Amino acid sequence: MPDFARFDSRSYPTVPVGEGYRDWTPSYEATVEDAMDQALLERLTSVPWDEARRAVDLGCGTGRTGQWLAAHGVQGLTGVDLTPEMLALARAKGCYDELFEGDVADTPLHGDSAQLVSCCLVDEHLAQLEPLYREARRLLRAGGHFVLVGYHPFFIMRAGMPTHFEHATRGPLAVATHVHLLGEHVAAGRGAGLNLVEMHERLVDDEWVRMKPKWERYRDWPISFVLAWRAQELA
Ligand SMILES: C[S@@+](CC[C@H](N)C(=O)[O-])C[C@H]1O[C@@H](n2cnc3c(N)ncnc32)[C@H](O)[C@@H]1O
Repeated sequence: MPDFARFDSRSYPTVPVGEGYRDWTPSYEATVEDAMDQALLERLTSVPWDEARRAVDLGCGTGRTGQWLAAHGVQGLTGVDLTPEMLALARAKGCYDELFEGDVADTPLHGDSAQLVSCCLVDEHLAQLEPLYREARRLLRAGGHFVLVGYHPFFIMRAGMPTHFEHATRGPLAVATHVHLLGEHVAAGRGAGLNLVEMHERLVDDEWVRMKPKWERYRDWPISFVLAWRAQELA
């Protein structure tokens, strides 16, 4: 796996994930664009959202994804995140039945129980993908769906842009970012007992350039991706 430091074009001070999201929480929802993740969720045709009666949102953050899932008919939603400040906003939204503070790769939840697991805009913060995929497969019933939306590795490497935010007093800060090539996702998912059934990539397009005029220079670069997996029968 390539080291992000080799591509970093911003040289922002880097903070650990927990510290970064603690301090980003107040401005998070105003700065994350739905075009990054929700536009990709909308494109999936293989996931019957409204059939999910038990679902887990790994790295649920402030509950943006949970709100989208609930609006698309997902029921029985549990959220897991390591940042208590983000979880407090998710709790206030009221779209989760339960919320847990913890690691996406090691949750306290029963296995073989969910029809849907989601993980949006989290994987670039994980040093290794395999533990995440193993946990997603453990949580799912056979035939269940795992949907992962990620910040595109091409964009991270080519633009040299880490996940970052404007700190209230310290200026721009990067949240520890890792590069995971799409082939790593395929290997980790297959190794965990998942079959890849659908994938889409979102390019920087007119909508993005309208939101961020300076991104004209990134036009047509892939900015995010979605992978939809199905859980195989356990051996
Ligand atoms: C960019 S936010 C995404 C939140 C939400 N899924 C969304 O799409 O808005 C990343 C979230 O992942 C959480 N996170 C990062 N690494 C994690 C880990 N190892 N275990 C649990 N949560 C993690 C952070 O606390 C943060 O809330």
